[in-house]
Parts: sequence; C-alpha cells; structure tokens
Amino acid sequence: MKKIVCDNYNEMSRVAADIVARQLKEKPGTVLGLATGSTPLGLYAELARRYNAGEVDFARAQSFNLDEYYPIKRSHPQSYYRYMHENLFSKVNFAATRLPNGEADDPANECAAYDAGIEAAGGIDLQVLGIGMNGHIGFNEPAEAYSMSTYLVELTESTLDANSRFFTGGEAQPTSALTMGFGSIFSAKSILLLINGAGKAPIVKRLFEGKIHTDVPACLLLLHPNVTVILDKEAAGG
Ligand code: PGA
Repeated sequence: MKKIVCDNYNEMSRVAADIVARQLKEKPGTVLGLATGSTPLGLYAELARRYNAGEVDFARAQSFNLDEYYPIKRSHPQSYYRYMHENLFSKVNFAATRLPNGEADDPANECAAYDAGIEAAGGIDLQVLGIGMNGHIGFNEPAEAYSMSTYLVELTESTLDANSRFFTGGEAQPTSALTMGFGSIFSAKSILLLINGAGKAPIVKRLFEGKIHTDVPACLLLLHPNVTVILDKEAAGG
C-alpha cells in the first residue's frame, strides 16, 4: 500500500486527478470504478476543470459506481445516480456510465447483472474509493463475513448517522443499499483510496496499524497488490 500525505483537501484532489488523468492517457478505454460521498467531490471538480481545459478525455472510458441506496428513485435528490450526474457525468464525456439501479424490482437480479456488466467490460482498471467513519468501503459495513459479489446490504446505525447530514429536506433516508462486494472491488487492477479530515484520523490509525482488523472492512485493502492511499494531514493525524 503506497501512502501519499498531502497538505490539504485541494492538494489531495489534485494528486488524485493526476493519477486518473495518467490512467486515461495510458489507456483511453479505461474502466473507472467511482465512489460518491463528500470525499471525491474535489477530484470530480478537478477532472471537470481539466476536461474543459482539454487536458483529459473520457470519450472512450466507461465507469461503474460502487453503490446506490435501495430502494431509491434516480430522481431523488440524494440518489447516487443524481450525485454522479450533477458532479461528474454531465460535465465530462464518458462513453458509458453505470450505477447499481436503486429502482430495480429484483435486487438479486440487478446485482448479478451489475457484476456481469463489470466482467463484460473487462474488469475495473482503476477504482476510486472513500472510507466510512467505521471503515466501510462502498457500503461494505463491518461484519463477520464479507460478500464477494454485488449485494443488497442493510446499513449500520453509524453509516445512517454519518449520511443523515445529506437528508435535510425531510426525505426518508433509505436503510439499505446495493454495493459492490470485495470480490468486485478486488478485481480492480489498481485502487485509489482518498481520505480527508480529522474525523477520519481514528479509522486511518487502525488501517495503518499493520494488522488486518476484521471489523475494519478497509483493512482488507491491505491485501491488494496495487493500492495508493492519498490522505490530507488531518486524516493522517497531523
Ligand atoms: P464521505 O463518505 O466521503 O462523505 O466521508 C465516505 C464513505 O462513506 O465511504
């Protein structure tokens, strides 16, 4: 696991954008794995800026997102579908983009089709990840056993609390989600984990203790051969 500590959030986002841009240059038909949440917003804004400046091109690239609430309408203000369209997809020129469908009638079918789609695309080249306060990756919450494939998961109190800040309009907050499992995430050839803010320092400390804490899902990433963690000083604990 390679670690890069940045002075602040903006620098973290720029360094991450450098890595994504290099990947797209080396392989224009890249399959990107993308994440939502507050962490990658700076990366997406920087990629949109570079696209407008003609510095990066997504014309042959495609993307798969990690997760989506379930059930949720795509038009819901807090759907990840909407987040991705507002923050990235409407601003750059991906050839194709896909998220787990929060409107699917049959979640099991949707999950199987999603994994089949990733496989048919040749697997993910570069997977962007954030980390939850409880160490979750995607919506893989701390558990006794972790799913390999995409699946329907019930969210923990910790995650519902952390994400309740986005549901300020009185909308009901979904308590379940569809998320890629660790098999799908681990199939990525390289992984970029972004972590910022003092609130994440305790989980960062556990991640870098040199042990696989089985109650910290992110610790499984220690076993992947090609992970780069970019964190700001605050998340790194100063
Ligand atoms: P955040 O969420 O980027 O909003 O902190 C990360 C996550 O829950 O994976």
